Amino acid sequence: MGSRFDEMRIFSGNGNPPLAQLICDRVGVPLGDATIVKFSNENIFIKLNESVREKDVFVIQSLSTPNLSDRILELLILLDACKRASAGRVTAVIPYYAYGRTDKKDQPRVPITARLLADMIQAAGAHQVLTIDLHAGQIQGFFSIPMDELTAMHLLVRYWAEKGWDDLIVVSPDVGFAKRARNFAEAIGAPLAIAEKRRVQQLGRRDGNHSAPEILNLIGDVAGKRCLIVDDEIATGGSILEVVRLLEREGAREIYACCVHAVFAANAAERLRNSSLREIVTTDTLPLPPEKRWPGLTVLSVSTLIAEVIQRIHSGVSVDTIFTQRKHPALG
Ligand code: R5P
Repeated sequence: MGSRFDEMRIFSGNGNPPLAQLICDRVGVPLGDATIVKFSNENIFIKLNESVREKDVFVIQSLSTPNLSDRILELLILLDACKRASAGRVTAVIPYYAYGRTDKKDQPRVPITARLLADMIQAAGAHQVLTIDLHAGQIQGFFSIPMDELTAMHLLVRYWAEKGWDDLIVVSPDVGFAKRARNFAEAIGAPLAIAEKRRVQQLGRRDGNHSAPEILNLIGDVAGKRCLIVDDEIATGGSILEVVRLLEREGAREIYACCVHAVFAANAAERLRNSSLREIVTTDTLPLPPEKRWPGLTVLSVSTLIAEVIQRIHSGVSVDTIFTQRKHPALG
């Protein structure tokens, strides 16, 4: 099927330039020329150096750290620039959607920032959104424009399945992730254990946002087994390392971990590198500079997946097969 737009343009903010370049290489188009400047008064200025009039425009921006707020503003300003330059259609490609953990009012007088972000993206001019493994599926509903949520879990499943280990047990780091971990385990053909995590409020804090993860219990038998902890993201590494300690106490033979989004905040990379984890597997939805990489970290690229979906969106071809083949129902 042909596209209703003659040409495609792909632009990127500073959220994850290496991934944007890989996507362009796979799609077979050059990265769009844009100037992004942050002035001394901290105002961000963006200029598209080529016409986007009536073009099918994709704006790639992972909401990464450091300087997350700048990354968000770059995305919004890029979308606004495309809108005001008469782009035919603008798709915001957000490999990692930040603020996903602020998705409900679970305390008095707190915001739903994941919703606020969705409102801003729409107001800025996005006609549709493409993202990967949201922290919570209901964030899809925060948008009233089309939203395609892909998963990279199949990449992780394939990686571990190819090891062919018959003593592997998948471990969910908390009860909330148990359903997705169960589906992951099913796709690999391994049994499941569940760590029961509760975040413990720190002394003197009443807001519930300064809590350390504490593991209370393990459901399942991991003694003598190879354990694979699976999570959607690793931020500080606190949750994963707490589970590692629990599994060690329970007699696990070897411990591995995987996640889609390697946020690796603060000194997380150092703590993970120095832990007893044999290997961590993640993806490149977020940039991983050399100081956050080590030989025990394997990074799989989501560029092929995103490139394929961009081509399908541009050509007006269904992405259904991506969902049915890649988004294994067991991984929903
Ligand atoms: C929690 O609900 C998530 O699935 C992750 O377990 C969490 O985001 C990891 O955060 P951290 O690495 O800071 O413990």
